[in-house]
Amino acid sequence: MARDTSATTVLLTGASGGIGSAIAHLLAENGYTLLLQGRNPERLDNLRLSLPDPERHQSMVADLTDPTQRQALVERCRATHGGVDVLINNAGVSQFALLEDIDDAKLREVLDTNLLVPIALTRDLLPLLSQSPQGAVVNIGSAFGHIGHPGFCLYGASKAGLHGFSEALRREQGNRGVRVHYLAPRAVDTTLNTEAVKNLNRALGNHSDAPETVAEQCLKLLQSGSSSRRFIGWPERLFIKVNALLPTVVDSALTKKLPVVREYAAGKAQ
Ligand SMILES: NC(=O)c1ccc[n+]([C@@H]2O[C@H](COP(=O)([O-])OP(=O)(O)OC[C@H]3O[C@@H](n4cnc5c(N)ncnc54)[C@H](OP(=O)(O)O)[C@@H]3O)[C@@H](O)[C@H]2O)c1
Repeated sequence: MARDTSATTVLLTGASGGIGSAIAHLLAENGYTLLLQGRNPERLDNLRLSLPDPERHQSMVADLTDPTQRQALVERCRATHGGVDVLINNAGVSQFALLEDIDDAKLREVLDTNLLVPIALTRDLLPLLSQSPQGAVVNIGSAFGHIGHPGFCLYGASKAGLHGFSEALRREQGNRGVRVHYLAPRAVDTTLNTEAVKNLNRALGNHSDAPETVAEQCLKLLQSGSSSRRFIGWPERLFIKVNALLPTVVDSALTKKLPVVREYAAGKAQ
């Protein structure tokens, strides 16, 4: 018999983005109630109105890198009737560039959005999530957090940090605490990826998934009884294992791709 999800409320960050919208649709179709976070009120409201039972869901506008706006979001969650059961840390930004071309402002933006924000939001919402038998956090990572890839030093570092955080928190919560899930997609067809990244992926033969694929895996994590982590895509799952056991093998494979990465990062290749 299908589980009753009508009383499960999910705060979904980055709901207005490609993966966020797909997760919002799938969860709403499966009966979850959504608190949709993003920075653009119009995009959020259009999304909300496109979901089944739009009046059941709420839009919550906030720039999460602004501590005051993030705190206001946490307060709204605390004031939400019935509480919040699940936090999906999905909001994120990417950066494709060689390290020497990244300035301090970009460094801060990527690390704040992809790492500091999910840690701070989780910390602030943990007491609320702990009150729910469905209490769970889902952190959306990336394959680049597990396979250091040239051109993605900063992004990869932020996602590797998110994985480290998820793993430690999962162990800190133990068997009886809030469930902590970690989901690492490979490339996904969304506007997060610039034309340069899309062209690079094509040149390197990297596969791209539809956002709906990520949403399906996210739902499976929520439906599973215990904390877990998932990596999307084959052969990426194999590369992640090889990279963990024999990093020098992956070093030489990726070093061969360096000239192509450099060309696309410099905007010389189309
Ligand atoms: N696309 C990929 O290839 C890929 C692969 C692996 C992992 N991921 C991860 O999947 C997640 C979603 O990515 P996506 O592809 O769906 O990206 P996207 O379409 O660009 O959406 C990003 C979302 O994050 C929100 N966001 C960004 N900065 C924010 C901030 N400071 N405060 C609040 N919200 C903010 C955006 O809100 P606005 O609408 O207000 O801009 C948007 O809703 C990210 O964590 C990303 O790293 C993506």
